[in-house]
Amino acid sequence: MSLTPISGRSTDELRRKVTTASLRELKLRHEPITCLTAYDYATARLVDEAGIEMILVGDSLAQAMLGHENTLSVTMDEMLHHVKAVRRGVKNALLLADMPYGSYQVDPNDALRNATRFVKEGGAEVVKIEGGEKRVDLIRRIIDAEIPVAGHIGLTPQSVNVMGGYKVQGKDLSGIEQLMHDAVALDRAGVACLYLEGIPREVAAMITAEVGTSTIGIGAGPECDGQVLVFHDILNLTFGPPAKFVRRYGDGAAVITNAVGAFRADVKSQQYPADEESYHLPRDTKAGLETVLARKRAMRR
Ligand code: KIV
Repeated sequence: MSLTPISGRSTDELRRKVTTASLRELKLRHEPITCLTAYDYATARLVDEAGIEMILVGDSLAQAMLGHENTLSVTMDEMLHHVKAVRRGVKNALLLADMPYGSYQVDPNDALRNATRFVKEGGAEVVKIEGGEKRVDLIRRIIDAEIPVAGHIGLTPQSVNVMGGYKVQGKDLSGIEQLMHDAVALDRAGVACLYLEGIPREVAAMITAEVGTSTIGIGAGPECDGQVLVFHDILNLTFGPPAKFVRRYGDGAAVITNAVGAFRADVKSQQYPADEESYHLPRDTKAGLETVLARKRAMRR
């Protein structure tokens, strides 16, 4: 249903395209920014039409969509395949693509080529890179090539083996200092926004107050400029116990299980398809067919 306000334009038409400039405006207005992941066309359309400002094709699709144990194995081509599908479903939200592990750590020229592919082939508007100060040169280079970059610090899943698991970061004074340092370095490099993952709320609040860019938190408390969650997490479409910061807004697993079970039961009991769900011959074709069949039966006798 499209709600038509007095101006005669639908709410959808009135909703503005979100750009990197809008993120700054939202921060200045203290209006919380919303971000969700999406990995396919249908989800992207629904998330976009719900008015979410940022849609991230996260490398978390390795787990959520492809069933991998962590994000390390997903490839550039796999990511691009999903970015293209999401692009087709997004109209107003800012579209971000995650640079997968190996696509920017090995060689800066490769990194630039891969970031460019996300924009040129995938239609992404921003690329996201994990890591702090050590990524500054690369981030500057990508921005110089006219590609906005989102930073991502704290619990960076691509560093799972270095961190020794998915552990909250910045819990001691030296960790806090490092995070502050990283955040300021990325802000100065000109990131379009900064994802803060798995850090104490107090530290995220300090970073948010310190940097000009918009912070988008996941497991980083309510003081961030915005919040991101994984679509599959908010709909109970993941199979393990949820992380502490996940809030479930629906039970997608129950909806799917019930619908699939009901379809199976209907087919087994021949309740599906009903006559109304079947195509029929036009009346004259049916009459002609009956005449032909009757003639064949008569000849057989
Ligand atoms: O891959 C991802 O989904 C992410 C976020 C949730 C920040 O990087």
